[in-house]
Amino acid sequence: MVKLHAPLAAALSAAVAFALAAQNTVCAESALGRGPTVIAEHGMVVAQEAIAARIGADILRRGGNAIDAAVATGFAMAVTYPRAGNLGGGGFMVIHRAGGDDTTIDYRETAPAAINPKSFLDAEGNADPQKSRESALAIGVPGTVAGLALAEAKYGSGRFSLADLIAPAVVLAREGIAVADDTADSLPIDRPRLARWPASAAIFLKSDGSPLAEGDRLVQTDLADTLAAIGKDGPQAFYHGPVAEKLAAAVQAAGGAMTVDDLKNYRAIERAPVRGSYRGYDIVSMAPPSSGGVALIEMLNILDGYDLAHEDGGLALFLMTEAMKRAYADRAWFLGDPDIVHVPVEQLISKRYGAQWRTTIDPLHATPADDVRPGAGMIATEGRNTTHFSVADQFGNAVANTYTLNFSYGVGLVAAGTGVLLNNELDDFAAKADSPNAYGLLGYDANAPGPGKRPLSSMTPTVVLKDGKPYVVTGSPGGSLIINTVLQVVLNVIDHGMDIAAAVAAARVHNQWMPDRVFAEPWLASDLVAALKARGDDVTVARLPTSANSILVTPSGFVGAADPRTRGALAVGY
Ligand code: DON
Repeated sequence: MVKLHAPLAAALSAAVAFALAAQNTVCAESALGRGPTVIAEHGMVVAQEAIAARIGADILRRGGNAIDAAVATGFAMAVTYPRAGNLGGGGFMVIHRAGGDDTTIDYRETAPAAINPKSFLDAEGNADPQKSRESALAIGVPGTVAGLALAEAKYGSGRFSLADLIAPAVVLAREGIAVADDTADSLPIDRPRLARWPASAAIFLKSDGSPLAEGDRLVQTDLADTLAAIGKDGPQAFYHGPVAEKLAAAVQAAGGAMTVDDLKNYRAIERAPVRGSYRGYDIVSMAPPSSGGVALIEMLNILDGYDLAHEDGGLALFLMTEAMKRAYADRAWFLGDPDIVHVPVEQLISKRYGAQWRTTIDPLHATPADDVRPGAGMIATEGRNTTHFSVADQFGNAVANTYTLNFSYGVGLVAAGTGVLLNNELDDFAAKADSPNAYGLLGYDANAPGPGKRPLSSMTPTVVLKDGKPYVVTGSPGGSLIINTVLQVVLNVIDHGMDIAAAVAAARVHNQWMPDRVFAEPWLASDLVAALKARGDDVTVARLPTSANSILVTPSGFVGAADPRTRGALAVGY
């Protein structure tokens, strides 16, 4: 059904290595201490950046609900965490509503109308990563402003106006913040990419071209004006009028395709979540155009048939990596923008399909990736940088939100006069069949570039429910690593009985079908690595740049766990 890709494995490894190196995750080589556990009675925000986490928690303290807090945190991180927090990118918000239907907001970027299947090819017809990753052609129409505003308008408590929730971000942008933590760590790495554009250099670099360093002040006056305008007039201040004109002009001057009409036509979409069940818990996660929820539920359905809690540890780990391989193969083949291509979601997330895949797993031998045929579980009659925050409130609502510019600082271009740093999200399309994106992910027709189309994502904001109430709120950055990260947090809690800090800190592994190898964090126990190798897995020890800022809701309160892998994450409860 699909062309096989053995010769690509080496190239894919290189692509994954590139993506991993680009993330600058800070962690110990041999062991990772668990982060501090924060317990609170009334509510919790866990985010990658401390000022923004505190802003969200303050909204909860003032009687706001989880959606209010998430929107305030989201706008604040556009200022305080420019590497991934954004107005110029997009993402997904999963909302568990106490006493209402769970829902999601899809605010993924769209391709400008001028993008077509050949947009990211070179003259010879080969995928051209320069075009899809480093040029203004990679910029998708930003969705964040529409998405956060839609979430607030429909599900905010009504106690706060959009302007109230944006106000802290305006002050931080105008007065400036001290560069710290992950921003101080990432700016030197991304300096050359920001230096290409004068409007970006003026904000993030000093006059001698060196990056702002720890303790320097990051002042974003134009961004303050843009945020204030959104607070005053709503999303139309971003998608119409002077801001939209400046965004389109800057993108076009840099060689990109986005027009004022593309901005005017952008819509955030409310979608039903994908739902699954696992050992009595309900899994609520993101539907296409993210692959995250479908792949997560598919893997859980495969694993449901094993008694992971009581299996030998090496076998349990191996079965998990085999499930990963199969779900990522399906991701490559079947998933894309559901408004443009048919995605067989119901089938992929069915228990029956998981059981079918299980019959292809040999507990003693790794199945070579080339032998994993996407859709092999089908019943015969029937195919950088991101950031995640989790919020839970006293009313029983929960929000899992992941949003991104794709690479760190997106494409690096700030649209002059707006302060808005723009994404390079269109690299998430399959530029060409069998040509990996920056995360080594393959894709086919379902995820080919096209006008107005949303590129397939791996973002997996997820809420696990116990007896219909929030239990785990989680998600992560990390490109292709995201789905497997969420899987392991969920399994660590449900099957392995870990508390949330341990579940987040525990060594993770990753298999994405192609390349045909298992990546393992350096602190994975050596007997577990040996168990994989004994079954024929090619294991590469690597730091996996993820950050699963999570909440566990327990009888004694909300327990927040900031992922210790990256500097600066914070859990704030009240
Ligand atoms: O949507 C996606 O799957 C990617 N654009 C996410 C990128 C990402 O997580 C980079 N972060 N580390």
